[in-house]
Amino acid sequence: MSQRENTIIKLPGLVDVHVHLREPGATQKEDFATGTMAAVAGGYTQILDMPNNTPATVSQKSLEEKEKLATGKIWCDLGFNFGATADSSKDFKKVAKKVFGLKIYMSNTTGPLIVESEKAKEKIFEAWPGPLPIMIHAEDKVIEDAIKLAKKYKKAIHICHVTANQLQAIKKAKKDGVEVTCEVTPHHLFLNKDDARRLGSLGIMKPPLLTKSDQQKLWDNLDKIDMISTDHAPHTLEEKKQNPTPFGVPGLETTLPLMLTAVALGKTSTARLCEMLATNPKKIFKLPEQKDTYVLVDFAKTYKISDKNL
Ligand code: DOR
Ligand code: ZN
Repeated sequence: MSQRENTIIKLPGLVDVHVHLREPGATQKEDFATGTMAAVAGGYTQILDMPNNTPATVSQKSLEEKEKLATGKIWCDLGFNFGATADSSKDFKKVAKKVFGLKIYMSNTTGPLIVESEKAKEKIFEAWPGPLPIMIHAEDKVIEDAIKLAKKYKKAIHICHVTANQLQAIKKAKKDGVEVTCEVTPHHLFLNKDDARRLGSLGIMKPPLLTKSDQQKLWDNLDKIDMISTDHAPHTLEEKKQNPTPFGVPGLETTLPLMLTAVALGKTSTARLCEMLATNPKKIFKLPEQKDTYVLVDFAKTYKISDKNL
């Protein structure tokens, strides 16, 4: 074998359960074709799309329309997460076998999907048939509400974009027998509040970037976090300069190179990356196996991430 071949590593096709493709409603940012091309360019072969589109994916009809829009346009495997509202709960049973998760916004974000009333939350947790997890957007202490409901209704929950101040509550919930998993985003791992100042409106996302010490806590607890999800949320540059600034950053093309940089720096290992970027998300969201699907990375090559080649 030549020396060059020796530097090539084989990874499984990566899986991301938390992607905000922008079709329907905001195809000036991205559509099913460009979004899934970005996924493949970043080493992802299986992704799950979030429901906060316009119109939101909160009925059997809007789900079917989304499926139709994506048909014939996608470059990798794509599944959908359903949006939870008090009203959409009437469709849960009809869609539960077609989607890969239910997403509930218990904290504010892009789009109108926030669920604030306790009564609505109870209704949603009670109605979701499972066994796929309820994906939770709950910032800071709001997570406790989600854990309480998961316990009461015996539902599996998946905490999206975990922050350092939530790790203790998750640990305790696990101890109490709650079926809870969590994910971390690359932007919370690689950026912090100091970067946010430098980046201005480009650094605005939900949840917001953490302090340097809370960022470090995420790295220190990487072995307790089930997966890395991109929370890929593109907006145009013009939109990011507007006031109010829309939340979010794209991540599909940059996550693998960033995480491999972390391996090169000794912060994690490729074996752990395979668990967090493929094995665990597949297992937790019961995703189908993809035969003969893999990603080859030349570890000897380095390059600088730039917006020009994205
Ligand atoms: O930063 C974010 N952007 N967080 C979210 O929860 C939603 C996302 C989006 O859709 O823009
Ligand atoms: Zn998100």
